[in-house]
Amino acid sequence: MVQITFITPAGVEHRLDGDIGQSVMEIGKRGAVDGIVGECDGSAACATCHVHVDPAWLASVGPPLPDEEDLLDFAHGRRADSRLSCQIRLRPALDGLIVHTPEEQG
Ligand code: FES
Repeated sequence: MVQITFITPAGVEHRLDGDIGQSVMEIGKRGAVDGIVGECDGSAACATCHVHVDPAWLASVGPPLPDEEDLLDFAHGRRADSRLSCQIRLRPALDGLIVHTPEEQG
């Protein structure tokens, strides 16, 4: 089990548990986190699962994958800490991960 905290732009925190191998997007959708839409259900085709990785977790999460990199160009408010949450798979090293949902998706 891995714990993830989603923080919305309003400062609301959602602390949720997920299983190894699940994506951060799946956990956010299951927990009805405001701002995690995931229209394509993790096919890396929509960019509506965009999150900002907390600075403390950037090194552990790592950079976007090549295909993800292209799609992130369509994400609203893309920054250096942007990732598609469907492309972040839970692993033990990510226990305690903090991500921030963007002001807007799409
Ligand atoms: Fe569509 Fe992540 S859910 S790109």
